[in-house]
Amino acid sequence: MSAMSAETRRILVLHGPNLNLLGTREPGVYGSTTLEGINAALTQLARELGVEIRTLQSNSEGALVDAIQGALADCQGILINPAAYTHTSVAIRDAVAATALPAVEVHLSNIHSREAFRTHSYLAPIAVGQICGFGPDSYLLGLRALVRQLEK
Ligand code: DQA
Repeated sequence: MSAMSAETRRILVLHGPNLNLLGTREPGVYGSTTLEGINAALTQLARELGVEIRTLQSNSEGALVDAIQGALADCQGILINPAAYTHTSVAIRDAVAATALPAVEVHLSNIHSREAFRTHSYLAPIAVGQICGFGPDSYLLGLRALVRQLEK
C-alpha cells in the first residue's frame, strides 16, 4: 500500500443521473454491480496507485457543475461518468473546460453500439479520453489512465 502525504494527488469521481440505481437498473445493459461496489473497487485501486478519490453521485446537472467547479480547490483530475448528461449537457462540458483539469470520461456500456443519440458526447472533445463498454472495469481503467496522465 502506497503512503499518503500532503502531496498525494486527489481525483474527483463523478457519477451522473440514475447511476444510483445500478444493481437493479437495466441489468442486461449495466450489469449487477452497485454504485457502492464500483466506489469500493475504485477506493481499493486508488490506494494501490497512491492517490485519493472523492466520489459524488447526483441526479442534478447543477450539483455536478458545482462539484466540478469545486474540484479546482483541491483535486488534480476528474473521472466522470456523466450518464445521460453526456449527450445533452453543454454546462458540464463548460465546467470541466473551465477547470482545465484533466478529465477522463467513462461509461459502463458501449455508447457507440447503442441508440444513435448516445454516440455523441459533448464532453469527449475536451476529455483526455473516453473509455466505454467494459462495465465497472471502465471506471478502473479510467482511473489508471488518469493517474498515468497526471504522472506525465
Ligand atoms: C451510461 C451511458 C449513457 O448513455 C446512459 O444515459 C447512462 C449510463 C453508461 O455508463 O453506460 O445513464 O453513461
